[in-house]
Amino acid sequence: MAPRLPLIFLLMIHMTGYLIVKVFWTKNTVINNVEPPDLSEDPEYSQRLQYLGDKQQNCTIRLSHVTQKDEDMCYFRFITDKPGEKWTGTPGVTLTVTDLQVESPERVTEGDSVRLTCKSSCTPR
Ligand SMILES: *[C@@H]1O[C@H](CO)[C@@H](O)[C@H](O)[C@H]1NC(C)=O
Repeated sequence: MAPRLPLIFLLMIHMTGYLIVKVFWTKNTVINNVEPPDLSEDPEYSQRLQYLGDKQQNCTIRLSHVTQKDEDMCYFRFITDKPGEKWTGTPGVTLTVTDLQVESPERVTEGDSVRLTCKSSCTPR
């Protein structure tokens, strides 16, 4: 069964003299001057992705119901009020999804009650 953990990407930016007009996370970098799509407008993510920060300095997102299909690169992009002043965070963040590990007791006999523990390499929130 696929783990259903929410995942938090935390990112802070700090700039002076600029007004940040748009901040978003995306799966693509800018190719041939084409603005990459905001992940939260992608139907595959829109129901599961939530911006938690203020979108000025704190650009934290939460992705819920993460499955293996979410394995991908993720880039952060922001656009300011100054013409041409927009940036993408490269090399980006790699999301790797691994299975939960189930821990069980070594010896179990019929009739025993068993406690199974799911372990994950990241802390679910
Ligand atoms: C950024 O926002 C997230 C979500 O609201 C919060 O958990 C985190 O503490 C904030 N980080 C800072 C440095 O304010």
